[in-house]
Amino acid sequence: MTVTVIVGTQWGDEGKGKITDLLARDMDMVVRYQGGNNAGHTVVIGKETFKLHLIPSGIFYDNVLCVIGNGVVIDPAVLITELETLHERGLKADNLRISSQAHVIFPYHRKIDAAQEKKREAGRIGTTCRGIGPCYVDKFNRRGIRIGDLYNEKLFREKLEWNLEEKGFQLREFYGEKITFDIEAIMEEYLGYAHNIRKYVVWDCSGLIGEAIEKKKDILLEGAQGTMLDVDHGTYPFVTSSNPIAGGACTGAGVGPKNIDDVLGVVKAYVTRVGSGPFPTEIEGKLGDELREKGGEYGATTGRPRRCGWFDAVVMKHAARVNSLTQLAITKLDVLDDMPKIKVCVAYKDKKGNLVKNFPGTLEYLAECQPVYEEYDGWMQDTTKIKDYKDLPANAKKYLDKLSELAGVRIYMVSIGAERGQIIKL
Ligand code: IMP
Repeated sequence: MTVTVIVGTQWGDEGKGKITDLLARDMDMVVRYQGGNNAGHTVVIGKETFKLHLIPSGIFYDNVLCVIGNGVVIDPAVLITELETLHERGLKADNLRISSQAHVIFPYHRKIDAAQEKKREAGRIGTTCRGIGPCYVDKFNRRGIRIGDLYNEKLFREKLEWNLEEKGFQLREFYGEKITFDIEAIMEEYLGYAHNIRKYVVWDCSGLIGEAIEKKKDILLEGAQGTMLDVDHGTYPFVTSSNPIAGGACTGAGVGPKNIDDVLGVVKAYVTRVGSGPFPTEIEGKLGDELREKGGEYGATTGRPRRCGWFDAVVMKHAARVNSLTQLAITKLDVLDDMPKIKVCVAYKDKKGNLVKNFPGTLEYLAECQPVYEEYDGWMQDTTKIKDYKDLPANAKKYLDKLSELAGVRIYMVSIGAERGQIIKL
């Protein structure tokens, strides 16, 4: 029996979907603990590609209970579309459970997200404009409407009325949007969604997970985004509005920290980021473009091109510490197959020439830091069909060893392609 947390160690898009899908097979339960439909998981099964934003990847296994925890923010229209896609392909998804305490995204959240981005101009975060941030704001401001509220029409109406009044004012008066909300239409729409998802809703989700822990089941707690997008430990304010780090699994699923046995960090063999914000090892120009094309680095949710960069050990060590990583899953090693030279950032240097080993606590200091690189010879060989670690080219093993040494964490698996079978276990 193990409770494992799976986290992204960079700026998201590390390939957690594939690793979760692989691990889910042997799990009794997979729980998503934060984020919303800002995330996107691509799972390739044979010739079929599935893009999931909210539903945990474990949904493809009937015997795995898939839980959307209290820490997630849910756009019900997106959830229902995902369910329909699964149904159309013959997947019943009867193994889905949704916490009644998860918060609901409304049209005003999406409008505020977009209006804020429009008004911010220079300081634009580059959000996915899915209403994620404004929904979390309401949660923490105690104005939020939770899944469970949708089943109490009187309470739902009261909360919605209040929110529409407040958000309408904010959007019109501050953001200059010409907007009015029709409460009856929103009520009708959301009561329809509530009816549609009723059978999946669980009223004591933490209790459900707790029982599974007591029964010594294997449980995977799945985070979205990544450590550097964490609202507390990422590159604030260029972050998402929840806690993707392992600690977020405790609050977002209702599990105590002593119940967590393993924390698996998913690490891309290079680094990418979508949206604005600092990215010390970013590769500009032709090489960055090549990496993007080779790695198919376009956002699973918004289709935006991802910025690409070299592996950053300062970020890696930060992630190892704030998540208490116990193991690593390295992904997309194959994307580097035909790189003659590969750089690894081993530390930063600030403008006074001091070596910086811990990730800077402010963006101002980070801006003064330059990456210190070591350069490695590439392996210039196709790795996509390799099944055994010992068969990897010597230079690829050297590169992996270096990443593990810099992280101070052992490698558990290496992914060398999008297919389920393209994985090397150590
Ligand atoms: P938000 O989460 O939509 O508020 O966006 C905040 C920041 O997080 C932006 O830079 C987004 O591009 C980024 N972001 C949100 N979700 C993901 C993800 O799943 N992968 C990578 N970046 C993400």
